[in-house]
Amino acid sequence: MEKYRFTYQDIHRTARDIADRVKASGFEPDIIVAIGSGGFIPARIIRTFLGKPILAVGVAYYDANDKPTDLPHKVQWIEEAEKKLAGKRILLVDEVDDSRTTLEYCVRELLRHDPAEVAVAVLHDKKKDKRGAIPAEVKRYFAGRTIPDKWIVYPWDAEDIDDHDAMAADNPPID
Ligand code: G4P
Ligand code: MG
Repeated sequence: MEKYRFTYQDIHRTARDIADRVKASGFEPDIIVAIGSGGFIPARIIRTFLGKPILAVGVAYYDANDKPTDLPHKVQWIEEAEKKLAGKRILLVDEVDDSRTTLEYCVRELLRHDPAEVAVAVLHDKKKDKRGAIPAEVKRYFAGRTIPDKWIVYPWDAEDIDDHDAMAADNPPID
């Protein structure tokens, strides 16, 4: 199967591009919410350009007995901090918009706390039919790159980062 491999350099450039577009849109987040674990590194790089604090959330597709669940559920949430989300502008960050299920779930959970606005940013949006939908309350959606529906290998999953970077030179075409 053809895969896309992105290097840390690629990811950094894509994150900066997202931050530039967030700024250009006039959206000034008060807080970045990172969806773990794939959203942690992208959120941290975006913070370099937007300079806002990061809160982390985690969701899982497995229950307490390790059985697959159809929908995501919380495994780590911002319980104390979520009391402070009312009236705040939130930038929700993840690495990939694949089925959109996790993103929909996280947006809905955040909306329960009366934020002023929730915007979504992902490094990569896969062109495909999505199982989930971004709620209509979300007026701003930033995808660093829109790519065909193929598996992405991120640099943080590489066991040999030099091999990974070398193979990234042979990515399938994107456009
Ligand atoms: P979505 O709402 O953002 O589309 O996420 P979805 O629920 O469809 O994704 C389920 C899991 O599959 C997520 O990981 C997501 O990051 C991962 N995933 C989907 N497509 C790719 C891909 O092309 N490459 C990689 N590396 N991962 C992909 P997760 O369960 O949240 O785990 P984590 O890796 O973020 O900790
Ligand atoms: Mg993820």
